[in-house]
Amino acid sequence: MIVVAKRDELAAARDGLSGRVAVVMTMGALHEGHAELVRAARRAADSVVVTVFVNPLQFGAGEDLDRYPRTLEADLALLERDGADVVFTPTPDVVYPDGPPLVRVSAGPLGEVLEGASRPGHFDGVLTVVCKLLHLTRPDVALFGQKDAQQLAGIRRMVRDLDLPVDVRAVPTVREPDGLALSSRNRYLSEGERTSALALSRALALRDVEAGRALLAAEPGVELDYLDRVDSSTFTDDPDGDLIVVAARVGTTRLIDNLLLAEG
Ligand code: PAF
Repeated sequence: MIVVAKRDELAAARDGLSGRVAVVMTMGALHEGHAELVRAARRAADSVVVTVFVNPLQFGAGEDLDRYPRTLEADLALLERDGADVVFTPTPDVVYPDGPPLVRVSAGPLGEVLEGASRPGHFDGVLTVVCKLLHLTRPDVALFGQKDAQQLAGIRRMVRDLDLPVDVRAVPTVREPDGLALSSRNRYLSEGERTSALALSRALALRDVEAGRALLAAEPGVELDYLDRVDSSTFTDDPDGDLIVVAARVGTTRLIDNLLLAEG
């Protein structure tokens, strides 16, 4: 496994890869959900590039950019174990050499609802860095977790609208045995908060918006932001939509989860 932090090193490592190349983009603090993305990438391509970059552009004022967990040593051990070929670990000045970019990708209407309404500018920041990392890593296929369903929809839309030459694939959410969706932010939860957080997956399992909202309203320690049924590609409200999405604050930690209704 080659670990690189500069653009020219990445370009040289990328040129050395043979066959189809897959990319998995992460912000580090890796867990088994990321490991599953890397394993899926191995199955989808001959070579796997992983990026580890906490992207300042997608954090709003007052969000957790400064305290976002940074665990590079453990991340590299996991990536070695699961078969990454190249790991790109740039600093912000490598990704944004001229400072915060003046020209950015706009997520459009999808960037303004649900997660986008709670986190203004978040999806523009995500799409801008994903677009840049696609150009820098030049993959044939890019894999993203279903857990961040709105991000996934935005990336699919960007790739279509801007004719980016990459095949985007979704990888199902990995859960703890008790249902909690894996997230780098779970490590912020106290034991009691973790128990409260289980209400999110329980609410989704009801497969009914009203019943899910009632369950979460009755859960002490959970402050519901939204639980809605939407179309998974546009994220517009849709009573017949194929996806239920939920976001809630548990203590000081904001958690999201979702359920694709086509799944069992
Ligand atoms: O899902 C994430 O970890 C991030 O939003 C991503 C896609 C790596 C962009 O910074």
